[in-house]
Amino acid sequence: MTVTAPEQETRQATPCAFVIFGVAGDLARRKLLPSLYELWVEGRLHEETAIVGVARRDYDDAKFRQEVAAALEEFHVPGCTQTAEWRSFQRTLHFAGFDLEDTDGYRRLYQRLSELSDDTRVERQAVFYLSVPPEVFPDVVDHLDEAGLTRRHATKDGTWPRIVVEKPFGRDLVSSRSLNDRLLASFDEECIYRIDHYLGKETVQNLLVFRFGNTIFESIWHRGSVDHVQITVAETLGVENRGRTYEQMGALRDILQNHIMQLIATVAMEPPSAFDGRHVRNERIKVIEALRPITEAEVAGDFVRAQYIENVVDGEPVKGYRQEENVAPNSATETFVAGKFHVDTWRWSGVPFYIRTGKRLASRVTEVSIHFNEPPMQLFRGLDDTPPRNVLAMRIQPDEGISLSIDAKRPGVTMALDSVQMDFSYAESFGGGSLADAYEALLLDVIHGDPMLFARSDMHDAAWVALTPVLDAWQDPTLGMLDYYPAGTWGPRAADELMKRDGRAWRAL
Ligand code: BG6
Repeated sequence: MTVTAPEQETRQATPCAFVIFGVAGDLARRKLLPSLYELWVEGRLHEETAIVGVARRDYDDAKFRQEVAAALEEFHVPGCTQTAEWRSFQRTLHFAGFDLEDTDGYRRLYQRLSELSDDTRVERQAVFYLSVPPEVFPDVVDHLDEAGLTRRHATKDGTWPRIVVEKPFGRDLVSSRSLNDRLLASFDEECIYRIDHYLGKETVQNLLVFRFGNTIFESIWHRGSVDHVQITVAETLGVENRGRTYEQMGALRDILQNHIMQLIATVAMEPPSAFDGRHVRNERIKVIEALRPITEAEVAGDFVRAQYIENVVDGEPVKGYRQEENVAPNSATETFVAGKFHVDTWRWSGVPFYIRTGKRLASRVTEVSIHFNEPPMQLFRGLDDTPPRNVLAMRIQPDEGISLSIDAKRPGVTMALDSVQMDFSYAESFGGGSLADAYEALLLDVIHGDPMLFARSDMHDAAWVALTPVLDAWQDPTLGMLDYYPAGTWGPRAADELMKRDGRAWRAL
């Protein structure tokens, strides 16, 4: 997170060569290139920045620039390539066409980076962004090594070159550790940026400010006041054109191991003693390391895995997961997971953290809600339809904001209670306009060398350790029985029963 005083807001980054492997892919076209363009427009990139796209295409720079223009027109702001900003931005764009297996290609890349600027810093100060399938990460690093583009070419202070690794970071503890070892053999830890775009979301960053920039919440942020916490990451979309990749992952690996773990960590962490990458990440990691080990028996009761089946949603037929492109007709991959965790720390002892995530659910919403205890004495018993309980809901997306449910007296001569909301809405408080894309903040942080919003290796390790019992138990068909839910609903009944058994219910969203 780049912390700036208002007058420094447009301070420029250092010059660098930003190399995107997989530049023809969806992520680069939808997110990376538009974010870099926006940073350029805002004057946050150095004039000597060179953006180098790598893909197995026979393009020259001119053709690549046309392709980037098309991506910006489609995924950023239509008409944006008719501007002076685009004309200057396009000069930063270069293309290096080669197959990721082609050793010579990396040598040519080395050569290209050297030629790109008279300022040798650009050559050395390279960011390698791996927007490619995870199975080729190790090979790309091998080839970067062979071509002399990694440690052997590092700056004296050891902060360059940098590598950005997209998720998924491994598919279990063993593969995550082996990927880590491979990266660490060529890059120092502080040069490895394991991206989790949730951490770059404005509203997730605001969780830190909300908790540690205010005094009033700290005194109630613990087991004495909190009954339980709920985290929902719900999507209405299905797997779209990602069937092949999704088949290898499922909801646990796609969302729970990374995005939800980061949300749990941010909500439950202790106040860091300084606002920097080391201290903030230390505190986050401690939370995940404190997750109570789950036993096999608990997996059967406390975790639900399910898959969407066809349905009619808003009058339109919607396919089931197994009918999606590149999905096996008998696939057992889960598109929904719900579960219960305990953070075994002094602060959170006895407070369950319930999580749920799924594709093709009833609405698109990501929210963290803190459910406070009931009052110790029910003074207004019978005057309220529901037992009074304050809920602080932090809406990550959409309608970004925070709301607090409180009980209030309904106006009238008789005593009756109603639950009302105190709301903070980003749109209302900070004016219209959309929030910056998470990738914008994260790419700038990579260039500034700020790792706070990136996962350190021990974070992935701790997350996989916590989830290994679940993955292991799911190997057994009786413990990992796949449930089903019609597309466009809130998931299987078993997810509601999980809450009901504890005398609780999911928040209606
Ligand atoms: C990605 C997952 O990390 O996050 C996708 O791989 C998911 O499956 C996406 O759709 C959700 O991101 P967002 O920002 O739309 O909540």
